[in-house]
Amino acid sequence: MAIKKQKRILGAIITGSLTDGLVMRVQHQVPLEVLKTGKFVSIVSAPYKFFSLITDLRLEVSHPDILLFPPTPQEQLLKQALALKDIYATATLRPMVMLDEQQRVLPVKTVPSHFATVFDTDEEDITHIFGDSADPSGRYFHIGSPLDMQAKLCLDLERLTERSNGIFGKTGTGKTFLTRLVLAGLIKNNKAACVIFDMHSEYGLQARKEGNNEAFVKGLKTLFPDKVAIFSLDPVSTQRRGGSPDMAITLTYQSVSVEDIVSLQEELNLHATAYEAAYLIAARYKKNWLAELLSSGDRLKDLAQEVGAHPESIAALYRKLKQIERLPFFVAQPSGSTGNDQATIDRMLEYIDRGISVIIEFGNFTTTFCYLLIANMITRRLHTLYIQKTEHFLGTHRKQDEPKKLMIVVEEAHKFLNSQAARQTIFGTIAREMRKYYVSLLVVDQRPSGIDPEILSQIGTKIIAQLNDEKDIAAVLTGASGAAQLRTVLASLDSKKQVLLLGHALTMPMVIETRSYDELFYAAMQEPHRPTQVLIDELFG
Ligand SMILES: Nc1ncnc2c1ncn2[C@@H]1O[C@H](COP(=O)(O)OP(=O)(O)OP(=O)(O)O)[C@@H](O)[C@H]1O
Ligand SMILES: [Mg+2]
Repeated sequence: MAIKKQKRILGAIITGSLTDGLVMRVQHQVPLEVLKTGKFVSIVSAPYKFFSLITDLRLEVSHPDILLFPPTPQEQLLKQALALKDIYATATLRPMVMLDEQQRVLPVKTVPSHFATVFDTDEEDITHIFGDSADPSGRYFHIGSPLDMQAKLCLDLERLTERSNGIFGKTGTGKTFLTRLVLAGLIKNNKAACVIFDMHSEYGLQARKEGNNEAFVKGLKTLFPDKVAIFSLDPVSTQRRGGSPDMAITLTYQSVSVEDIVSLQEELNLHATAYEAAYLIAARYKKNWLAELLSSGDRLKDLAQEVGAHPESIAALYRKLKQIERLPFFVAQPSGSTGNDQATIDRMLEYIDRGISVIIEFGNFTTTFCYLLIANMITRRLHTLYIQKTEHFLGTHRKQDEPKKLMIVVEEAHKFLNSQAARQTIFGTIAREMRKYYVSLLVVDQRPSGIDPEILSQIGTKIIAQLNDEKDIAAVLTGASGAAQLRTVLASLDSKKQVLLLGHALTMPMVIETRSYDELFYAAMQEPHRPTQVLIDELFG
């Protein structure tokens, strides 16, 4: 057996409490630059071993008078003499989990003893706490490494799919790259089928990368051609980028419901009376409400009278929704048919049932109006079908009837989930019902403070990159235990490829350097996944 490398001693615990964190006196020999906020350390205090993040650092002196005459750069000897006894640094540690003698991972309910030794952690600690990426179940997905370490830190994908999740960070911090990583993990290990509303065509074929040497990175369809299908609203654009969509999306006015318009309220600056008017038209014309409205240009007054709405409201609604006519993927409903868009949704569901993820490309239709409208329409329909599927499964209890876990991915999430929209739209419903029907969300957003607080509190796992706005920081940390300390950690993240991971899919909060999305990653994604049974068969013949 290889001789185990001795772990470096960083210091000793001198005071502290569970609520405010423990204070470690840093050992003289330890250079301060190895201690950073977000560093992962262990505290040994028999019979327990505690694991903690460094949340703050501080310089101390034994006597305040020393500060009155600080040594000059020439007075090295004086400085060395002081360093022996009178000047030192302390670090604040917040213990998050502890191991008992049986190596069980437990929540922290006690404190280590005085002068307990603080050590660096190693790979073994990391895999013990967060799971092993080599586990044949494919459950643990390597998402990055703890600060200044090579070890692979894993997300628990099973737990990730049990709740809705969020990826947050200001612009340019790597949200889209992280989302692609997480989705690649889910797709490779068959943990969920995803439906990705891809506003800027960044997930399917290839995506632009900042920097001059390597201009493009591979998309998910390129990495997993058999496990990903592209549905395009703009097939010409998809083809121009070197791919042919698996299906071109067509929709009809009949499949737009008033609910879908509610999400657009802020975007269109629609007054509440305008969509009340929409409800009135829908009460009279049912599915044909939008077709009726859009064709009533010269007789809006008559329509208002007929349905009992205010003429001004109907006129406003007409003006704002008229732009739908410019979207070429809306086609007229052929008479007598059930509608072409049923074909789109059916086909999508067929893929999902086979565990194939669907990327919906918007091509050149990148307006927020279009994104909100389409994402609402499609998600609402999928959700309805999933309720039916779940109820059917609950009736039969046959394993083959169990719906596949479905994860719906949206960017600009605050537009779908602001307090107004969250109450009335399908995205709010899904976030609140906690995947009772096998559907969950993965929301990507740069302005989390715009998301309804109740919805934010339902988010299971949060992946948080740098955020500058105080409101955003407060919003993402609401409800997290030790929020005050995590705030310092969050504030000191690099502006790229560093994130704080927090929540249901992790044993404890953790700061990582994000795994690089590059050639090495592509190669890892091509390695065959070996299910448990294969390994058992190999071992026992
Ligand atoms: N894991 C990673 N691997 C490789 N490069 C990365 C990674 N994360 C971030 N980058 C680099 O950072 C740049 C910005 O990342 P990304 O486009 O994901 O940011 P974003 O947060 O989605 O920004 P926006 O809010 O503008 O959409 C990328 O173009 C890439 O060069
Ligand atoms: Mg992005």
